[in-house]
Amino acid sequence: MKISYHGHSVVQINSNGKTIIIDPFISGNSLTDLKVEDVKPDVIILSHGHGDHVGDTVQLAKKHNALVIANAELSEFLSWQGVNTHAMHIGGAYQFDFGKVKLTQAFHGSSYTLENKQIVYCGMPAGVLFMNEGKTVYHAGDTGLFSDMKLIGERHPIDLAFLPIGDNFTMGPEDAAYAAKLLNAKTVVPIHYNTFPPIKQDPYQFIEMLDSKNGRVLNPGEAIEL
Ligand code: NI
Ligand code: MN
Repeated sequence: MKISYHGHSVVQINSNGKTIIIDPFISGNSLTDLKVEDVKPDVIILSHGHGDHVGDTVQLAKKHNALVIANAELSEFLSWQGVNTHAMHIGGAYQFDFGKVKLTQAFHGSSYTLENKQIVYCGMPAGVLFMNEGKTVYHAGDTGLFSDMKLIGERHPIDLAFLPIGDNFTMGPEDAAYAAKLLNAKTVVPIHYNTFPPIKQDPYQFIEMLDSKNGRVLNPGEAIEL
């Protein structure tokens, strides 16, 4: 499978002939190389309900009849907007025809802000494990550091991990480097940085902090083949 990074937390996976996009925040994402009109997802996986992750989900899902996979609360909320959803929850895995998806815990918030200044609760935030062809990709979503990352890595040996390093809203570089150690992932790619002023970071400095020097900075549009 081919896994590409598109700025902020946007990750695209091409697996079994399908295009899967995680957290498709494209409109308003100053770092992305994607254009909403060029993205043709078959599947959208969401880590949580914040706008910089749900992004263009509703528009894309309706236009391409894409399946949206998210936790039960966020799925329910999006289904009311006419989107085809598959609800899951933390700790649960499901074998789809394009690969296996399992949601993991993440320590963060998860809500959707309506125009009338109401906040809709969107369930617990999650990380995403994507497994196919004997390979495992972990997208941590937005999260602080937690010690059960060790458990996640033990239960699912990780080939490629996308970890937030922006600080302020999520782990910063030091905590993310510690997370990489706990997860024991073969390759680590930093995400969720430089999109907004409070999350400005040098991803190359993060790579230097990794004990096993197994980090890789992906510029928006760059891919890794597993
Ligand atoms: Ni968030
Ligand atoms: Mn975020």
